[in-house]
Amino acid sequence: MNGSVEQTRQTYQGWDEFYNKDIDEKLDFFKLNGRLFDVIFAQQFDRPFMDYLCKIADMIRLLAQTKMGQEKLRHLLPHKRAMLYFVQPSTRTFLSFQNACYILGLSVSESRGTSTSSEVKGESSEDTIRTFASYVDLIIARHPEAGFAEKTAWVLNQTDRPVPILNGGSGPDQHPTQALLDIYTLERSFQHIGGLDGKKIAMVGDLKRGRTVRSLSYLMKNYNDVSLYFVSPDIFRMKDDIKKFLKKRDIPYYETDDFESVMPLVDAIYMTRIQKEYSDGPSNEADTYPEFHFKKEHLSIIQPHCTIMHPLPRRYEIEVEVDNDPRAAYWQQERNGMWIRAALIAYIFGVESEILSEFS
Ligand code: NCD
Repeated sequence: MNGSVEQTRQTYQGWDEFYNKDIDEKLDFFKLNGRLFDVIFAQQFDRPFMDYLCKIADMIRLLAQTKMGQEKLRHLLPHKRAMLYFVQPSTRTFLSFQNACYILGLSVSESRGTSTSSEVKGESSEDTIRTFASYVDLIIARHPEAGFAEKTAWVLNQTDRPVPILNGGSGPDQHPTQALLDIYTLERSFQHIGGLDGKKIAMVGDLKRGRTVRSLSYLMKNYNDVSLYFVSPDIFRMKDDIKKFLKKRDIPYYETDDFESVMPLVDAIYMTRIQKEYSDGPSNEADTYPEFHFKKEHLSIIQPHCTIMHPLPRRYEIEVEVDNDPRAAYWQQERNGMWIRAALIAYIFGVESEILSEFS
């Protein structure tokens, strides 16, 4: 026997209707007892939640500095099990979630592709996820399809064993937990200059297909007087849905392809990679778009407090010589992913008050 069987397509009554609803009408469906249950979209997070989560992440980070603190954290959730279902490549999101689970004492199972699961026999993704739910208490999923995490959460929430779903990246659409760590990084970078409120942020690169900048843009709704500078080649401009969202909330944004003109103006520069894996038409594969790279010489143009971020992996967007500048935040940013994801998991299971009480 070789080759795989075509995947079974199942029809779920009511799914299309739900999927096409306005996002604000869907939010309650992913809550339980007034608290966040599934994490699917960045729009689910409001300001009090963001501030609370950043505080929990800070506490976890502090506790993790000592053996005794680590032991306390590990005793919070040893009775829980998580499944990491990552059928799209990942290094940071996978490892930071896995280690966030270890920090809190959860046991972890993983599937990193469809080739070794019953999906080879044609099992639908929905049945596959339902099977995970039979064994574990939390599912963290990364999938190439937009809407995948949403659909599985929607399916599971109608069963007698709903377990929380955390979206670890849904195609070119959203990456809500990346947005959490990005906000945490911005807030930490600006902790002595009033936090994220009032800041100017440039997002640079492939804004059309980069899910991180999409999710991060949504989260700007929670901050006062923030303005965004979208810097991209014309073919990779930010999509209209995000621009419409920003307009509706009076969040100013500017679009340009002149990166150097924006550099001295902003408080943060969020670099991104060209998402070649989503190429659908003829594009110049060899082009790395050097006008949208951050080079060593640019360090003298940006403000002394300007923070340089990147969700990583990088290609040529940031020269390695930039890495040792104190304003380069991307290595700290990836580590922040572990702290904020641990905070999120602690919150989902309702044990965060035990962390906070350590410091009261
Ligand atoms: C990002 C992703 O997967 O969207 N990476 C990540 O999660 N840290 C960004 C990217 O792949 O460009």
